[in-house]
Amino acid sequence: MRQTEQRAIQAYQEQFREKPALVASAPGRVNLIGEHTDYNGGFVLPCAIDRRVALAIGHGDTQLYSADFQERRQLLGKREGSWADYPSGVVWAMKEQGYEVPTFRGAFAGDVPLAGGLSSSAAIEAATALALDEFLQFRIPKKDLAVLCQHAENAFVGVNSGIMDQYASLLCQAGMALLIDCRSLEAEPVPLNLTEARLTLFVCDTQVSRELGATGYNARRQACEQAARILGIKELRDAQIQDLDRLSGEELKRARHVVTENARVLEAVEALRRHDFVEFGQLMYASHRSLRNDYEVSTPELDTFVELASQSGAVGARLTGAGFGGCAIALIKPEDTEALAHTVQQNFEARGFKQPVFYTFKPAAGAEVVK
Ligand code: GLA
Repeated sequence: MRQTEQRAIQAYQEQFREKPALVASAPGRVNLIGEHTDYNGGFVLPCAIDRRVALAIGHGDTQLYSADFQERRQLLGKREGSWADYPSGVVWAMKEQGYEVPTFRGAFAGDVPLAGGLSSSAAIEAATALALDEFLQFRIPKKDLAVLCQHAENAFVGVNSGIMDQYASLLCQAGMALLIDCRSLEAEPVPLNLTEARLTLFVCDTQVSRELGATGYNARRQACEQAARILGIKELRDAQIQDLDRLSGEELKRARHVVTENARVLEAVEALRRHDFVEFGQLMYASHRSLRNDYEVSTPELDTFVELASQSGAVGARLTGAGFGGCAIALIKPEDTEALAHTVQQNFEARGFKQPVFYTFKPAAGAEVVK
């Protein structure tokens, strides 16, 4: 059993003076490539990370405890602006789909860094959904649980996010990336053999935290929808590079990112299948440039990290997740990570940025139930 799962069980026992019925846990994710494509019906390639949120669950009056925030909350009928919004949203979404959810109690414990673009919120939602599914014997397929969690995030929490994070958290497999077609919702594992390639998935959390709702995320979505309207297509997934001639200004830039990024994801998958990490890395750098210049969601901190990673010999680097702060990733030889961390720290300090935090993640398993 993982440490987070043990902590959730322990917290449950301390709070409620009995053993839970079961525990489920779900990971955060990094997106390797395919950014801001999910809500355009496009392709993404995330992998789950070895940081998780666990929920120990059992019968009782509806009380939720968070071992990390050390507080108890009730399940709520509407958003209150706390961590409890995510489990409340999932219960709300289940009820909306006609499932009967009786009262229950639960304790959360997690180690996914918060508000840094590693999908801690999707991990809470996925752990809640899977724990309830098992506890109440609904037997909802994981893909449908992911859609349900996205609905909770969109309609209850009020963040207009795509399907990537919830899908990644529920469906990823250890040692694999997951190619998701966000239109058909088909997902295919792609081997991500970093150890064999002698590469580390190195992550820089710039400590510029943000709530998606308060960023330009929704504005980016609207610009994409507007571009699709001008082109007379359903979603930018259907746009070809030559269609871009019919756009201008903001719509042109946003659409150019989406069209080229979708192509990069498919090329990146081919590169992975050939174990060609040089090509894969080049596509990561190209993705970052496109996010910086055309999608305009990068920050000086993220750009600095990517630049220094490139100078330190990383095969690829880019911002990951929505941007506007949060994290960047690099694929780099294990022996080069320390030097990279050192130069990034020095550079950030000299430029008056916050001190960053670094992680090394392994491509990990998606959501699981532990009985
Ligand atoms: C956030 C959203 C995802 C996706 C990314 C950008 O992580 O939750 O759905 O849109 O941003 O790729």
